[in-house]
Amino acid sequence: MSLLTLDCISHAYGNHPVVRDLSLSLADGEIGCLLGASGCGKTTVLRLIAGFETPTQGSVRLRDVTVGSPDRQVPPEKRNIGMVFQDYALFPHLTIAGNIGFGLREKSALAGRRVDELLGIVGLSGQGEKYPHELSGGQQQRVALARALAPRPHLLLLDEPFSNLDVELRERLSLEVRDILKQTGTAAILVTHDQHEAFAVADQVGIMHAGRIEQWDTPYNLYHRPATRHVADFVGQGVFLTGQVIDRQTVEIELGALDSKLPLECTSSCLACGKGCALDILLRPDDVVHDDAAQTQAEVVAKTFRGAEFLYTLRLDSGIQVLSLVPSHHNHAIGEKIGIRLDVDHVVAFRQIA
Ligand SMILES: Nc1ncnc2c1ncn2[C@@H]1O[C@H](COP(=O)(O)OP(=O)(O)OP(=O)(O)O)[C@@H](O)[C@H]1O
Ligand SMILES: [Mg+2]
Repeated sequence: MSLLTLDCISHAYGNHPVVRDLSLSLADGEIGCLLGASGCGKTTVLRLIAGFETPTQGSVRLRDVTVGSPDRQVPPEKRNIGMVFQDYALFPHLTIAGNIGFGLREKSALAGRRVDELLGIVGLSGQGEKYPHELSGGQQQRVALARALAPRPHLLLLDEPFSNLDVELRERLSLEVRDILKQTGTAAILVTHDQHEAFAVADQVGIMHAGRIEQWDTPYNLYHRPATRHVADFVGQGVFLTGQVIDRQTVEIELGALDSKLPLECTSSCLACGKGCALDILLRPDDVVHDDAAQTQAEVVAKTFRGAEFLYTLRLDSGIQVLSLVPSHHNHAIGEKIGIRLDVDHVVAFRQIA
């Protein structure tokens, strides 16, 4: 049985629909993530789960008990859900220990033990008597996490918890938070704009667009098997090339024939697939391999140094441009022609937009 189920929920602020027919489920101990552009409804979904908003349609269920629906709304404090926000919101006049223990109902000795345990879990042992202003931003965010974990919530909701931190710190802290959630067996839903963060932390990621989840899947599948054109565009980089279907297992693009290991399965947005039909084929930068021995030549028109790799933009004979990720010891100049070949594992095809 799932810990959390959102079953076709919708929500509107006044007559402005914000969440539409959205479903997902999360198992015990699993970390989910909502990823999407600003204003697509991520925070509203968390507020619906926490109980600060009531869905206009559908249901929010915890262990199959309905806690939120148009005619049944369990108040937030009865849901046993913890929350961590972007701005930490620590109480400045309370010590770190006071902040962590704030929501505990246990008697003082028990609460004291729980606070010490949590200080250890978040790597702040011995710092309980300090005040929030004496800690760094990353340490304050770990205190906010400890405070949310203190009452042993079934589920933790994290709304862009790292966005106030610099890039290096947010990468480190996001992995630490993943470890802490896994170590304590706490299920969580994290909201972020940052794809790398989502991929590093989450077991399942939902790509949100205009109030809907377009795909709820593993990071690997989102990148390699995007269900919609929007997901293909939003996740990672890539270009679309026209392909001609040769048979149900082969499609041909300018760079050669792609032989998919599985029957060429057009995604839900494509009902085509007959011989000769034209499709848009997604090519990721890792699908195009630089190889000096390859017959096909392409001209370097742009390059971005990424440390271990260059991301090359290459122009094919037809004028169409593709991207290629190449180990950075292959340092080719703009205007130079280099050999390329395909190394495609999954063929991702969409019906061409008329
Ligand atoms: N309390 C509110 N009253 C009216 N409209 C709201 C309210 N809260 C959010 N909205 C609107 O609902 C839409 C979704 O907002 P939401 O905060 O859920 O987006 P988000 O995906 O979390 O965005 P961001 O990434 O910027 O935090 C936006 O158009 C926003 O303006
Ligand atoms: Mg938000």
